[in-house]
Amino acid sequence: MTGYMAQPSTPTPVADALGRPLQSLRVSVTDRCNLRCRYCMPEEEYVWLPRQSILSYEETERLVRVFGGLGVAKVRITGGEPLLRRDLVELVAALGANPSITDLALTTNGLLLSRHAGPLREAGLGRITVSLDTLRPERFQEFARGGRLADVMAGLDALGEAGFAGSKLNVVVVRGFNDDEIVPLLEFGRVRGLEVRFIEYMDVGGATRWSPDDVVPRAEMLARLGTHFGSWEPVPEPGDRAPAERFTLPDGTVFGIVASTTEPFCRTCGRSRLTADGMWLRCLYADAGTDLKKYVREGATDEELADVIAEAWRGRSDRGAEERLAVPNRGPLYRLERLRRDPHREMHTRGG
Ligand code: GTP
Ligand code: 5AD
Ligand code: SF4
Repeated sequence: MTGYMAQPSTPTPVADALGRPLQSLRVSVTDRCNLRCRYCMPEEEYVWLPRQSILSYEETERLVRVFGGLGVAKVRITGGEPLLRRDLVELVAALGANPSITDLALTTNGLLLSRHAGPLREAGLGRITVSLDTLRPERFQEFARGGRLADVMAGLDALGEAGFAGSKLNVVVVRGFNDDEIVPLLEFGRVRGLEVRFIEYMDVGGATRWSPDDVVPRAEMLARLGTHFGSWEPVPEPGDRAPAERFTLPDGTVFGIVASTTEPFCRTCGRSRLTADGMWLRCLYADAGTDLKKYVREGATDEELADVIAEAWRGRSDRGAEERLAVPNRGPLYRLERLRRDPHREMHTRGG
């Protein structure tokens, strides 16, 4: 029953209940992380996915091929921290050889990047985004509870040497923690030729200490950046470029803002997520997903997998971030007990 279906040369696009095409897939390859950033993993103890449940690279590659046949052309490898997964270059090479995937990217905290950047590039990885929330070593340690900023900096150096172009820096802005660094971080990105994206702190699963007071809204970030750098202009984008909205400074520097908390962009969202154990989540805020591993390990054919995926996508009406806007007295999405009952609700399992 496991015979592979030939990849259709033209994908069969599938749209959800709100007309949003299945476009991009974020593939988490591990739920483990070598940091404990407070906006994502603030607790001392976690429930981890059982090792035997983690998809093999063959299983992941096969699922991505089926998604490719349904219109997915953009794949981002995430974690936890994806560089903790052994022999990641093998998966990158396999996904890079898939003709349906025209944009293959990776999001990393950068700690292990200096040794992996070259091999990843050679294996066919197109783009890398590095998370960097502060330029101060002590603040980094305090906030991420581990790791060394110097290692991330070495990773950033390695990006250019490996030949990566168009790399980005993700900055989650948390009031009272790093909002005093938005100007230096943008300056840093400008000097290094890295596009900085400021992300509003989100009340996702895992962010158990989230409070609306800690969010620095897009409008405030833009006002503060404008005061320092001069007036910015929105970059006109053909089609949907979410999640980040992009802006240009007077000197031509481009930066982005991901305003998921105060100005969500669910209406155009064609993203879904595959966890390391094959749970397919059709919204970052979704309480549950479809266990594709079960179908794979029970011997479903590629056609059967494609049917399951297409049918679930056609029924999708998720607008998680928009719905959260209407919640009165908004606080964390989940209490700790609910996260512990199902680790798939954690942001580090869903892939950031
Ligand atoms: P590009 O392909 O370069 O546009 O990258 P990306 O923005 O898709 O990926 P990245 O991992 O850099 O995403 C940046 C951040 O945006 C994430 O870490 C999340 O905080 C947020 N984000 C990403 N996807 C979603 C989504 O589907 N919904 C919401 N609400 N936020 C998202
Ligand atoms: N709010 C916003 N972004 C988050 N990430 C993780 N937790 C949060 C949160 N609470 C995203 C960051 C980070 C990526 C791995 O996950 O963008 O760079
Ligand atoms: Fe898409 Fe859900 Fe994020 Fe909205 S909250 S943009 S629907 S993943």
